[in-house]
Amino acid sequence: MATILSIESSCDETAVAILKDKKELLANIVSSQIDTHQLYGGVVPELASRLHVQNISIVLKEALAKAHLSIDEIDAIAVTKGPGLVGSLHVGIQAAKTLALYTQKPLIGVHHIVGHIYANALVNEIVYPCLCLVVSGGHTELVYMEDEMQFKVIGTTLDDAVGEAYDKVGRVAHLPYPGGPIIDRLSKQGKPNYSLPKPMDDESYHFSFSGLKSAVINLAHRIEQRHETLNVEDLAYSFQHAALDILVEKTMRAAKAYQVKQIMLAGGVSANSLLREMFQEAAKKENISLSLPPLWCCTDNAAMIAMAGSIMYDYQMFSSLDLSVKPGIDIELESRGGIDHGDQRAWNIWEKKFSYLVNCQKQRVFKIRRFAVIFHTLQTLPI
Ligand code: KG4
Ligand code: ZN
Repeated sequence: MATILSIESSCDETAVAILKDKKELLANIVSSQIDTHQLYGGVVPELASRLHVQNISIVLKEALAKAHLSIDEIDAIAVTKGPGLVGSLHVGIQAAKTLALYTQKPLIGVHHIVGHIYANALVNEIVYPCLCLVVSGGHTELVYMEDEMQFKVIGTTLDDAVGEAYDKVGRVAHLPYPGGPIIDRLSKQGKPNYSLPKPMDDESYHFSFSGLKSAVINLAHRIEQRHETLNVEDLAYSFQHAALDILVEKTMRAAKAYQVKQIMLAGGVSANSLLREMFQEAAKKENISLSLPPLWCCTDNAAMIAMAGSIMYDYQMFSSLDLSVKPGIDIELESRGGIDHGDQRAWNIWEKKFSYLVNCQKQRVFKIRRFAVIFHTLQTLPI
């Protein structure tokens, strides 16, 4: 049993959570940058990393205050190491390494999707073997899990992720970013008036959304050329059914083939009300247990990273302090027994750099902008 402080900064949310014994979520702070990125119609990576630098110490302080804990009462520091935007991930990792070095507590590098999957464990008991449909802005994957922390990808998207397709359709329909939640809402008033292709309707467990995305773009162009008006509700309805039917069909088929005891959903798109309904219906029909992550932790947050970190803590799946950003990391390598323990030389260099920076902090000398994240983090500590 342990108290884990976790940091998530892989995209446009700066988040810190504190989870005690896998049960008590003592703090779960998410600072969203969405208002800024909405102005540009999507996430601007350079802006995202700058905002993470500004926000990280504020969110850290708030989480510790909310949990009524001092940093010394934390047993380990978990952090998202990838996949995600390099600059954004870097901020969380630097902050986490600073805290781990200061407290001399273990550092746990968590795969972002492992976090999304274990968001389910915050509310449900996971029954193995299980199958998880991961649907987010960057991923669409079917992950088979024979046991805890065992990941096998049996299907994946060959091009775009389903969340990416939602956001693109949102753009075509001139909706604010991100398109997913709005399309979800609008489709409730829509009708199946537009005919769109069902993507990758075949025997495999793979997915493809670029064809559907192009079909929506072409449809919008044709309507514009004819000086007609695009019915956004009908587009939302037609798009959602084309995109989601295939996700449910393939997941249910794979669940049978792999004889799993439970199906789980994970990732931002698992907040979708139609997808949740369709899975509830399908699972009931097939008499199979279904776990849906709670709505408050479908999209990016640090509570899910804390839960994954707590499970990894039990298996002592610790990272060395030379942990670096892993933007394209493969989830199968995160299975128990597959973790990389890093190299001692890089750790020594980091320790030297760290003591130099702690001295700078003590003397209030903050000259080196390159180390801004570490300075910001040190400001949250009783130095
Ligand atoms: O997991 P997430 O927060 O970030 C990534 O790891 O990518 O997922 C964000 C994605 C966005 O594409 C967003 O449009 C989508 O999740 N999303 C939704 C809904 N809520 C968020 N898509 C469909 N329906 C929703 N209700
Ligand atoms: Zn995510």
